[in-house]
Amino acid sequence: MSSQKQSVIILGTGSYVPENIVTNDDMAKMVDTSDEWIRTRTGICERRFAAEGEATSDMACAAGERAIQAAGIDRNDIDLIIVATMTPDMPFPSTACLVQSKLQLPNVCAFDVQAACSGFVYTLGIASSMLQSGNFNKALVIGAEKTSPILDFEDRTTCVLFGDGAGAAILTREEIEGVGILGTIGGSDGSDPSVLQQPAGGSAIPASVDSIQARQHYLKMNGKEIFKQAVRVMGQASADILEKVGHQASDIDLVVPHQANMRIIDSLAKRMKIPMEKFHNNLERYGNTSAASVAIALDEAYKAGRIKSGDIILLVAFGAGLTWASSLIKWH
Ligand code: ACO
Repeated sequence: MSSQKQSVIILGTGSYVPENIVTNDDMAKMVDTSDEWIRTRTGICERRFAAEGEATSDMACAAGERAIQAAGIDRNDIDLIIVATMTPDMPFPSTACLVQSKLQLPNVCAFDVQAACSGFVYTLGIASSMLQSGNFNKALVIGAEKTSPILDFEDRTTCVLFGDGAGAAILTREEIEGVGILGTIGGSDGSDPSVLQQPAGGSAIPASVDSIQARQHYLKMNGKEIFKQAVRVMGQASADILEKVGHQASDIDLVVPHQANMRIIDSLAKRMKIPMEKFHNNLERYGNTSAASVAIALDEAYKAGRIKSGDIILLVAFGAGLTWASSLIKWH
């Protein structure tokens, strides 16, 4: 997605998760499940659910505000906002436009990216290319998701997996070569959308009494199939980005993978022969926050002192579509 002329660097990151902690025991009060099943099959111990009335754009703004503070920039210099989400406030206008207004950013191009859980990594590639074009100077990129309203609390195979939150980064172009976002790739295979989808609410099945009664506005997933695909595409996307930018797995200092299932991350680590100590995971606390997951984990890893100047960081994600994406960053 991006070519390397100048460097696009991450100036600052921020994240936000709602206050409301929902433990596995809380989930067991809603569906026939147990803390033991969820922990051992997924690695998740708890997740956050947004408050009623707290929309995706509110979480996106909270994370964005923190990223602006961390970057130490004048907010008026931001000229691009991209929000990755599959749970926008509404079909239109875009969540990015709502963020623009709430954060009072006057002179921006703003739009959303829909690549499900791969969205934030897709967004890094898109913003990076737009900055390198010379037409934009500072980008606010956000992954934000309120998955809780699309979870079917009558389906124990999906509702225990997801959570809400947002993560953000400020990107800028620098006149130095060889640091920052070294490259980003994205891929997709739309041949079988039924493996992971929210069937109704769009033009194919508009909202109706029937669609609501058939529970078609909730997330539906073939977990086993997604699991198989995830292990394959995460490994391939990681190998492809390393080859593209001329690095090897042994060069990587930190992997920030999409937080869907600890067993998927374990498989990735084994396949890449990278020890688990080099992975930053927060799945146990937040579950799968979809497009927000890599963004929140990146912010946490930085704030925890796990990222130093010169480090090579791999971001890798997969999601509904199917989509997948990876990005290799040399921290400035
Ligand atoms: N609690 C208790 N039992 C459960 C639960 C639950 N929450 N969910 C399923 N089970 C049961 C099943 O009914 C099944 O019972 P049965 O054998 O009597 O039929 C049994 O547990 C085993 O079910 P499996 O589906 O085989 O469980 P599996 O080990 O495959 O784990 C899981 C299921 C966790 C969903 C796994 O397949 C997975 O993580 N898949 C990937 C999902 C994923 O990553 N999704 C995110 C995509 S990203 C995006 O874009 C949104």
